[in-house]
Amino acid sequence: MIVNMHQFAQWKQEGKVIAVLTAWDYLSAQMVEAAGADIVLVGDSMAMPVMGHETTLPLTLDEMIHHAKMVRRAIAKTLIVVDLPFFTYQVSREAAMTAAGRILRETGAQAVKMEGGYGAVVETVAAIVEAGIPVMGHVGLTPQSVYKFGSFGKQGKSAEEGDRILKEALALEQAGVFAIVLEHIPDDLAQKISQTLTIPTIGIGAGPDCNGQVLVTSDLLGLSDWQPPFAKPYVNLRAQGISAAKAFCEDVRQRSFSPGDSHRFGL
Ligand code: KIV
Repeated sequence: MIVNMHQFAQWKQEGKVIAVLTAWDYLSAQMVEAAGADIVLVGDSMAMPVMGHETTLPLTLDEMIHHAKMVRRAIAKTLIVVDLPFFTYQVSREAAMTAAGRILRETGAQAVKMEGGYGAVVETVAAIVEAGIPVMGHVGLTPQSVYKFGSFGKQGKSAEEGDRILKEALALEQAGVFAIVLEHIPDDLAQKISQTLTIPTIGIGAGPDCNGQVLVTSDLLGLSDWQPPFAKPYVNLRAQGISAAKAFCEDVRQRSFSPGDSHRFGL
């Protein structure tokens, strides 16, 4: 069955929880699809663990399209959502629509994600949705605004901030987003937003009461040397990869390396 974003509001009503994982290339996307996730997010978080940047800001639209094309080749049924990178949608509505259109046309993705719920972004979201491109929203900790926040810390801790984030989520729902990411906000605020909206909320560091959860796949796999406090590694592939690489180096230096054992792993 091909996953379709119109199902998500219905799933929320039925209490069906949405599983979202990120991917950045063909291999990671193959794993996400094989695992049966509902949505694969080509997230700009890849700028940090995959590309080695300190923030998500340096990632360009061309780089995002390059990665999303790799993901697309691995996906047959999972819904593909691609992040609009920093400053591809903030300068003008025209620039935003061109960027969103390029992503759909050049990568084969079905939707884009945009950060923020303030006035100008909400108007741009409405225009993109009206033009026929589904949009996922993202409020709370929006990493493209890290220099405004001063850190990657939790947002919405005061009553005023919590109110602002709830209003942003409502404005985005009104603008037509099909789902909304709630990142690194207090659990009770995420619960309130999830109860107030009719579209599903997808949490990351936002407690158990969202209508779905998203995890960055390099964090799920334990690949990165740094992980946010709300990450949950299900395996430590970084340590396993280092010890496999060390074993190879040792075998080569001992002249005991012999290729052709891949059948041991069922490959
Ligand atoms: O870029 C990303 O991976 C994201 C998730 C953290 C939601 O936006």
